[in-house]
Amino acid sequence: MNQERSDTLVLFGATGDLAHKKIFPALYAMVAKGTLTEPVIGVAFDAWDLKQLQARARDGIVKAIGKVDEKIFAKLASLLRYVSGDYRSAATFEKLKSALGTAQHPLHYLAVPPTMFETVIQGLEQSGAAQGARLMVEKPFGHDLQSARWLNRVLHLVFDEQSIFRIDHYLGKEAIQNLLYFRFANSFLEPIWNRNFVESVQITMAEDFGVEGRGRFYDEVGCIRDVIENHLLNILLLLAMEPPVGRSADDLIDEKVQVLRAIRTLTKDDVVRGQFKGYLSEPGVAPNSPVETFAAVRFFVDTWRWRDVPFFIRAGKCIPVHATEVIVRLKRPPLDVFDPIKPGDANYVRFRIDPQVAISIGAQRKAAGDDMVGEQVELTALDDSKGDMPPYERLIGDAMNGNGQLFTRQDASELAWRIVGPVLGDTTPPHLYEPGTWGPADAMAGFGPPNGWINPAN
Ligand code: BG6
Repeated sequence: MNQERSDTLVLFGATGDLAHKKIFPALYAMVAKGTLTEPVIGVAFDAWDLKQLQARARDGIVKAIGKVDEKIFAKLASLLRYVSGDYRSAATFEKLKSALGTAQHPLHYLAVPPTMFETVIQGLEQSGAAQGARLMVEKPFGHDLQSARWLNRVLHLVFDEQSIFRIDHYLGKEAIQNLLYFRFANSFLEPIWNRNFVESVQITMAEDFGVEGRGRFYDEVGCIRDVIENHLLNILLLLAMEPPVGRSADDLIDEKVQVLRAIRTLTKDDVVRGQFKGYLSEPGVAPNSPVETFAAVRFFVDTWRWRDVPFFIRAGKCIPVHATEVIVRLKRPPLDVFDPIKPGDANYVRFRIDPQVAISIGAQRKAAGDDMVGEQVELTALDDSKGDMPPYERLIGDAMNGNGQLFTRQDASELAWRIVGPVLGDTTPPHLYEPGTWGPADAMAGFGPPNGWINPAN
């Protein structure tokens, strides 16, 4: 296994949307901190020259952060190279090979659709550019269990598992790192973090925008494949896993895989699917498309710790707010010593993932006055986004250093599809909802955690 830091970053899909919006701003931040000094070779089909790629990078950075520091940008621009060509042509990879020069351990980052993975990987192998290299691949990782298995076979023809980095950018978020840290660095949590005290868990990812010009892509995936099977299920794993037995990447991933193995395969009764009114007129969306833009899903984790505790995940486009939050709700006290504690007023832990990072504990205290009457308060344990590292910065840095902890291992990439498999590709029309509402209200009636959903605020 290759232990060296990668000595060149090769970015396939360099002229694409992801590179523009996320990857170039991340590279700029890395250059600013001095954590990227290696050459970056952009590869794409467009017959551009290096100047055009630099201009595109600059535009993406300005859009992401507002204003570039010319000195830092000049450094990044000096690291950039560009190779244009068809991924199906050997000549493209010959050009890449010569651009790599004396590099021994490149990191090849495939920010291209999975349908291109096989072609690119073959090109890398045949040109010799795969030798000593690492491979980082973007989501979506397959479409279902069968395609994920096939993709894994394609990857493994050339790269060993230790050299493969499957991205889920959610795992690179500061708040997700914090959730993991908070769980295992606080001993007050462990005694209550189980079926005896926890009533339910709910994870909500609300987005107050639609498919934003990505209709063609979105209509092939839908909400469950787009964010539930990967980002939100990953949050569930971090909430439900046992403490890792060591610090290696595999120690952490092993525990997540144990949870994946224990999650019951979904049935149609575990899901409510919705579609916002107007989705069908989005460019790229099929007429009468049955694809969901909203889904609420119930999971059960059949472990000693979690048996019968419902874990709900809810995600949607065109919801009134833009926020991602987790609520772990505890059971209410066994007796009312003072005033009755209303259902739903039980203690909870709230992890705010987006847009700000915050961890809070919901508690009851006595309201000021004569009577022993309570009120709900929140103790915010942390609300600080200083020093946040954007996910792509963290993940590209980790992959270059060969640290796989925040990436999806092969077994996890397949197990997640096993769980959601039976509810994918449902062609029954989803329940319609008005944009700017919390999904299809009628269909959602009675579906959710005991004592209800908590809608995150903006
Ligand atoms: C992407 C999905 O993976 O995650 C998008 O394809 C979604 O549909 C996005 O909007 C959300 O991620 P973030 O980090 O921008 O909240």
